[in-house]
Amino acid sequence: MLRAAGLRKPLEQHEPTFLDLHAKTAPSAQLAVDIFNGDWSSHLPDKLGVVSGSARLFEDPRIAAVIDWYGPGIVGARVLELGPLEGGHTAMLDQAGAEVLAIESNSQAFLKCLVVKELLDLRRSRFVRGDFTEYLRGRDHTFDLVLASGVLYHMVDPVALLELLASASDHLAIWTHYYREELVRALPTSKQFGPASEPYVFDDARYVLHPRQYHEAVGWSGFCGGTETYAQWMERDDINDCLTRLGFTDIEVAFDQPEHPNGPSILLMARR
Ligand SMILES: C[S@@+](CC[C@H](N)C(=O)[O-])C[C@H]1O[C@@H](n2cnc3c(N)ncnc32)[C@H](O)[C@@H]1O
Repeated sequence: MLRAAGLRKPLEQHEPTFLDLHAKTAPSAQLAVDIFNGDWSSHLPDKLGVVSGSARLFEDPRIAAVIDWYGPGIVGARVLELGPLEGGHTAMLDQAGAEVLAIESNSQAFLKCLVVKELLDLRRSRFVRGDFTEYLRGRDHTFDLVLASGVLYHMVDPVALLELLASASDHLAIWTHYYREELVRALPTSKQFGPASEPYVFDDARYVLHPRQYHEAVGWSGFCGGTETYAQWMERDDINDCLTRLGFTDIEVAFDQPEHPNGPSILLMARR
């Protein structure tokens, strides 16, 4: 605990104190953003006039495609978003008229979302902190649409997540990396992938899951993976097969990027 300043010897210039938590200039968006100075992944909208990150997640063509695919019903639609990170996709959905519940487990990411919510005045969105898998297991109502972007490939049990998603909505938008041997083996991160585990039995199908260890990446400040030290990647045909078995008859594919620098990736928009 710090004592009253007058009772202490003068502090060294660089020694951090609770005084550092105070802003001493007039309120501004930048002051709020700078709570996470240097830690933003996303480029926050230009209209805010702030210095932030570089990823264009607030003007993401994948989410524009999801909004188009869902159609005019997006106005007033109840959307569940998994892992909003910094709220870029949430903002796009909110601005399109959706009412979003976004669940984020990472404390820093959750607080950044709250900063964004305030700066962009996102009135239709709610951010909550917690594990979306646990939420999905215990939820008592369904959603018009579930957005699961950048999360399936961070799951230890991705098939279980697909089942939970299917129980939560008749409309799913899933952007994910998937496993294809020759493409993943050519990645700089290929050493993180170990031998495939025993086939996962789902219904009368067998899915091969591919473990990926995060290793030291979990210590990096920008780590935005899942809650465990490893994940298992699915193969593309298996994701498709699983969604079909879960009753999704109409599955659209967009942003098919086998050569994505972080591994082959795809946007699936599925309805039943
Ligand atoms: C790779 S980022 C994807 C961010 C964003 N949805 C996108 O597509 O750009 C994964 C996000 O999901 C969050 N996350 C991962 N596992 C989670 C879980 N089980 N419950 C809640 N959030 C989770 C991470 O903290 C991170 O913000």
